[in-house]
Amino acid sequence: MKKENILIIGAGGQIGSVLTEALRDVYGDEHVVASDLNPLEPQAGPTETLNALDGQALEEVIKKWRINQVYHLAAILSAKGEKDPMWAWNINMASLFNVLEVARQRSLDKVYYPSSIAVFGREAAHLDTPQYEVLIPETVYGISKVAGENWANYYYRRYGLDVRSLRYPGIIGYQSMPGGGTTDYAVDIYHYAIQNKPFECFLRADTRLPMLYMPDAIRGTIELMEAPANQLSVRTSYNLAGMSFTPEEVAASIRKIMPGFDIRYKPDFRQAIADSWPASIDDSAARKDWNWNPEYDLDTMTKDMLHHLAIQYHLSSSV
Ligand code: SER
Repeated sequence: MKKENILIIGAGGQIGSVLTEALRDVYGDEHVVASDLNPLEPQAGPTETLNALDGQALEEVIKKWRINQVYHLAAILSAKGEKDPMWAWNINMASLFNVLEVARQRSLDKVYYPSSIAVFGREAAHLDTPQYEVLIPETVYGISKVAGENWANYYYRRYGLDVRSLRYPGIIGYQSMPGGGTTDYAVDIYHYAIQNKPFECFLRADTRLPMLYMPDAIRGTIELMEAPANQLSVRTSYNLAGMSFTPEEVAASIRKIMPGFDIRYKPDFRQAIADSWPASIDDSAARKDWNWNPEYDLDTMTKDMLHHLAIQYHLSSSV
C-alpha cells in the first residue's frame, strides 16, 4: 500500500462515492477520508461531514487526518446551476479557493479538480473539439469550470502546487445517481429500461454528446493522479473522451437486450445547454501524456449497466 492520506470532498456524489471505494482499494481504507456536506453512511474507512465553503473546517479535517492529497469533487452541475447562477458560482468558486489555499499553505502533495465538457460553447469546434480551443461556456457551471481550470494552472505555475484535472464528459454508472446535470438522462434511461418502464427523455433524439462509463472515468482519474508530474503537459484540464452517442442510439443499444424498451422525447431547457456542448472531443493529449485509453463502448457499457442494475433491482441476473 502506498502511504498517502487522501481527502475526498463530495464523497456522497455520483463520482465521489465510486472513487472513494476505488481509492480505498489502492491506498487502504484508513487512508481515504470520505467527506460530504450531508452525513455519509458508515463505511469501510473514515468519514467527515464537511462544508467545503468553511475554510477553517476544511483545514481542521486536513490537519486531523494528516491529509496530503485532496480530491475536490463537490460542485453544482450545469442544469441545476442555471436555476440560481450566483449561488452556483459562489459554491463552485468559494469551495475551490478554500481547497487551493489550504493546499498551498500546507504544501499538500496533490490536488484533483474535475472540469467538464461544459467549458466549451457554440464557438468551439463541435466535432473532435481540440484540447486548446476557444472557451466561451453558456452555463454558470461551465464558466466556473473555465475559471477553475485557470486557477488550477495559476496555482501550479505560481506556487508549484501539483493540481491535476480532467474535463469529464457525461459519466454513466450503475452505482450512483447524478444530480442536476444535462447528461443525467443517460443514467436514468437504464433505470427505466430495467424496470420495463417507458422513458421520457429531456433531450431530442439526435442530441450527440460525449460520454464515459464509470469504470473508465475512475481508472482515468487514478491514472492521471499517479502519472509522473513531468509527463503532464496540460495544467488547466485534459480533454477526456470515451464514446459519443445520441438518446436514440442508447435506446437502440438497450433494445438489443430488451427489445420492448420504449422511449419518448420531450426536450426542455437542458436542450439548449446540450446544443452548446461538443458532440465529441479530442483527447489525444491525455492519450499521449499518460496513456489514456478507454475500454468501454456503447454496447459493452449497456450490457454491463443492465447486468448490474438487474441485480440491484433484484431481477433475474441473466440480463
Ligand atoms: N455531466 C455534467 C453535466 O451535465 C457535465 O459535466 O452538467
